[in-house]
Amino acid sequence: MNLKSEDIELGLLLEAIYLKYGYDFRNYSRISLKRRLRQACEKLNCRSFSMLQDLILNNPDMVTEILSFMTIQVSEMFRDPLYYKAVRDEIIPLLHTYPSLRIWVAGCSYGEEFYSLAILFKEEGLFDRTIFYCTDINNDALDKAKKGVFEFEKIKDFTRNYQMAGGKKSFSEYYTASYDSFIMDKSLRQNVVFSDHSLVTDKVFAEMHFISCRNVLIYFNRELQDVAIGLFNDSLVRNGYLGIGSKETLQFSAYYNSFQEVNRKERLYKKI
Ligand SMILES: C[S@@+](CC[C@H](N)C(=O)[O-])C[C@H]1O[C@@H](n2cnc3c(N)ncnc32)[C@H](O)[C@@H]1O
Repeated sequence: MNLKSEDIELGLLLEAIYLKYGYDFRNYSRISLKRRLRQACEKLNCRSFSMLQDLILNNPDMVTEILSFMTIQVSEMFRDPLYYKAVRDEIIPLLHTYPSLRIWVAGCSYGEEFYSLAILFKEEGLFDRTIFYCTDINNDALDKAKKGVFEFEKIKDFTRNYQMAGGKKSFSEYYTASYDSFIMDKSLRQNVVFSDHSLVTDKVFAEMHFISCRNVLIYFNRELQDVAIGLFNDSLVRNGYLGIGSKETLQFSAYYNSFQEVNRKERLYKKI
């Protein structure tokens, strides 16, 4: 074992953040974490991860800022529109058989994935019997998701995605525009609970019929991916559905045999 000093310091920094604040990034994929923490060092005038560690340990109010470097909030409404089309065509008809539904959007960021599913469930007549649970470790992101306000410059992309996802109306029916932003219709937030929950350190909190967790596993190493997939397996009802991101797979997971592929390309699975 001959680790570079920077890698040793990074390991110690992650250990310190976990011990002091409970955020466990120790098994996140190191390459991108290192790149993002180097940016944090630059912004906060730290010459090394050890200096950053000292700063964080002695300034608890810096945690939010550090979390904003360590988590990625890139998202879109109806991101990968064919995923939502597949949910509409292949999952929703089966969800119609349940009198009430619990849907978990794990790693919901600013809420784009949730608002997309809420619209879809409305259009398919399932919204009124559904409770959505939206979770993330980033409380700033959760606060934004609760407000449902997005920058207006994104509207063109979101509208195009909505149409490609098989949207049945005009996307403009779901928001109100003002100057440089738009706010999602408050009726979409009627049946939703937003809460702080970590896929790494927290447990099952309800039995789910469908879990959509897209573009989160990609930041975890193999071992940690299995922790999260195990949590999904324990949370789903039998025959419940799991959707993950286009660059993610269950193929190498210890839980691979617990799931059946529903749509390989769109990464939709059913628990068996
Ligand atoms: C790239 S965003 C994905 C947003 C959305 N799901 C999508 O696909 O567009 C990744 C999100 O995962 C969240 N996240 C990272 N680690 C997490 C963890 N351990 N538990 C829950 N959420 C986590 C981040 O805060 C961020 O909001």
